[in-house]
Amino acid sequence: MHDQISTTTFFIKDGLSYLQLDHDRFEMMFHALQNAHGAEKKEILIQLSKQLLEHMALENEHLDPLIEGQLGHEWVKKCQQDDDNTKLLLDTIKNSANNEELNTNIEKLISLQREHMKNEELEIFVDLRAKLNQDQLEVLYNSLETAKKQLEAPGNARHALEAMRNRVVHA
Ligand SMILES: [Fe+2]
Ligand SMILES: [Fe+2]
Repeated sequence: MHDQISTTTFFIKDGLSYLQLDHDRFEMMFHALQNAHGAEKKEILIQLSKQLLEHMALENEHLDPLIEGQLGHEWVKKCQQDDDNTKLLLDTIKNSANNEELNTNIEKLISLQREHMKNEELEIFVDLRAKLNQDQLEVLYNSLETAKKQLEAPGNARHALEAMRNRVVHA
């Protein structure tokens, strides 16, 4: 009986776990970034920047409406402010004048994202889980998965990510 329950649980489609898995991947990338140098560091930064922009675009389109409806606008505003600050930091990192400045900006990005992901996982996701049923979590999972495939389809990614990057910065 117990085995049956764990097997079923393992295959449940859950949009919040889907996003949490992205967070775990970012944490691994932060660690790799802090230990990398030269070309390797540059390559990790390119990948991290792309994946963070994708993650923000997915949350913006599919998670924010749920937060707005279930938890209220203040939480959406907080998330979007963090996203805007992340985008500014990604640009600042790209324009860093020297290695010292680059490392300082990378540390700022990592601490901002860690704080943001912690807020999502320990506050927003917990509160949403208490309000959403399994069908709604599965709808979120399917929407995120479909949107991610579209973002990653050749030709689509650049347009979507540019739109995300250029979204008006919130006051
Ligand atoms: Fe987020
Ligand atoms: Fe997130």
